[in-house]
Amino acid sequence: MATTLIKNGRIVTASDEYTGDILIDDEKIALIGDGLMEKGADTVIDAKGRYILPGGIDVHTHLDMPFGGTVSSDDFFTGHKAALFGGTTAHVDFCIQPKGKSLKESLDLWHAKAKGKAAMDYGFHVAVTDLNEAVMAEIAQLPKMGVTSIKLFMAYKGVLQVDDTTLFRCLRAAKASGVLTMVHAENGDAIDVLVKDALAAGNLAPIWHALTRPAELEAEATNRAIELARVAGDAPLFVVHLTNAMALHAIANARKRGQHAYAETCVQYFHFTKDNLNATAEDAFNGAKWVCSPPFREASDQAALMRGIRTGDLVSVSTDHCPFNYKTQKTLGAKSFAAIPNGVPGIEDRMYMLWDAAVRTGQISPSRFVELTATNPAKLFGLYPRKGAIIAGADADLVIWDPKAKHTVSAKTHHMRVDYNLYEGREVTGKPVKVFLRGKLVVDGKRWLGAAGAGRFSNAGRRSCFRTR
Ligand code: URP
Ligand code: ZN
Ligand code: ZN
Repeated sequence: MATTLIKNGRIVTASDEYTGDILIDDEKIALIGDGLMEKGADTVIDAKGRYILPGGIDVHTHLDMPFGGTVSSDDFFTGHKAALFGGTTAHVDFCIQPKGKSLKESLDLWHAKAKGKAAMDYGFHVAVTDLNEAVMAEIAQLPKMGVTSIKLFMAYKGVLQVDDTTLFRCLRAAKASGVLTMVHAENGDAIDVLVKDALAAGNLAPIWHALTRPAELEAEATNRAIELARVAGDAPLFVVHLTNAMALHAIANARKRGQHAYAETCVQYFHFTKDNLNATAEDAFNGAKWVCSPPFREASDQAALMRGIRTGDLVSVSTDHCPFNYKTQKTLGAKSFAAIPNGVPGIEDRMYMLWDAAVRTGQISPSRFVELTATNPAKLFGLYPRKGAIIAGADADLVIWDPKAKHTVSAKTHHMRVDYNLYEGREVTGKPVKVFLRGKLVVDGKRWLGAAGAGRFSNAGRRSCFRTR
């Protein structure tokens, strides 16, 4: 059993920030104090001038996922390695129920994807796409399988979309079993009409992806899900990848009246607008790199999202990492925006891109950053206080963070298995310099010390009592 002493760091939790030492014993945080004795520790690391953060937890990812006629390009090793380089030490991925399969069979498929590859800890949400009586009964069994969240897609008509009957029945069943219901909130039926209109008019370029998915249709679906959850007896609801001011308003109102409604946004929505989907002088198809759903919005929506993470109406920031290579996968939609695989890469970029946009600029404190990137995700998805916390007894998933270090983001140096980076050429200030997974140093500067197979399935317990700000 190895011990590591990290000394003199600025320890940041969701509630406190103070200078101190952390003793790691094997996989756990053993002791936190001031002036802890170096004698006896196998390794001593001086973290003076640096922050010590809980490892990031990304609760919205799609590794090795069949979608849009192809498969997302990162698997459970390449995606994990990239995440660890970015300071994320655990994630919760979406296991998608293939039509005709039970939830248990679906989970078995996703466990097989991770087996032998996982380099960091992981959990699963199950996306229900094919509801029947047996699947209804299985929802109650999910917590025994270490899963406490389901997801319903209100968009992607004919592929993943469910109807309101399914959504409502699932909300009730989930609530009865202590399971959290997540929704991709866009009105897929109306989008389908708008997409057909655009195609008929010969509007085929990537920008039409954004133009056929207006913010109103996200707000409508968000409102609908909120009201269905309310009628389902205040079933807990988590709206994923919220992008705009109208949808945020719906969430804020629901929360004001005390409903158990939560929402995340994703870091890329702070950095890009729908203008990024336009053709460039050099490349008419360039906007395909930014094709994801819901689409990028307006600058006014970005300002609303920033207010949302400050006020607490948005409880976490994820990535929706769903990478497709530009040259070989996005090109499926070279002739029509409707065939571009939806999704963007970002599992590696989340922590420093949020830090740079929100902490460096003084919009949020380092503590709030920790709350959004680790503590709240852990609380909502049953991992707290094993993860998302710096307390004695917690997993020693820790990041030593240098707030002054500069980093230029590029596909040439990133670790994600995808041929472009949304933030290509951006210089950010603040980045992880050492990353520990359950006490083991897995990233040391540019050095990779992790291993395929070292990651573990992290059983989700019940959601912790969750504070509504
Ligand atoms: O465009 C996206 N977001 N692709 C991944 C699937 C989803 O909707 O989350
Ligand atoms: Zn989605
Ligand atoms: Zn997603």
